[in-house]
Amino acid sequence: MNEQPIDITHSDEPAVDRRSFLKIAGIAVGALTVAELGGIGLAYLHPRTAEGDFGSVITAGAVDDFPPGSVTHVTNGRFYLTRFDDGGFLALHQRCTHLGCTVPWDQATEQFVCPCHNSQFDDAGSVLNPPAPRPLDRFAVTIDAGMVLIDTSSAIARDDFDGSQVVYA
Ligand code: FES
Repeated sequence: MNEQPIDITHSDEPAVDRRSFLKIAGIAVGALTVAELGGIGLAYLHPRTAEGDFGSVITAGAVDDFPPGSVTHVTNGRFYLTRFDDGGFLALHQRCTHLGCTVPWDQATEQFVCPCHNSQFDDAGSVLNPPAPRPLDRFAVTIDAGMVLIDTSSAIARDDFDGSQVVYA
């Protein structure tokens, strides 16, 4: 009996038929889409902490840029920098402690007046008029080589204003 070897290296049938190919391609596209959406979601949730942005340490300026008795809005840091008459600095979050509206400084009345429900705060962020339940939050201030640095990575809640919150050059 003469046996012939079977050629298994060549076949007329494709290794993957059309239906299987489409199924694999569909799964691959689906997985890619999920991965991409996940990446976009993580990028959205990741805090922006580039230097100079809210969430980082921000250089507000030189000490002498802020005259005593002034309130300066530092918009990229989302805070106000109060310099009291005695030269001390206090950085106040612009966010109202009632429901979070941005609070503008009114130079005419020398108060922060919330446009949402009319809470009012003095230049130290203390509540003059409710419904705000507590003073404006503050940020840590340091003075280094004549420059005023504000750490906006975390707002510091407080029940009252006291002198220990003021930083001097
Ligand atoms: S959010 Fe400012 S008073 Fe309500």
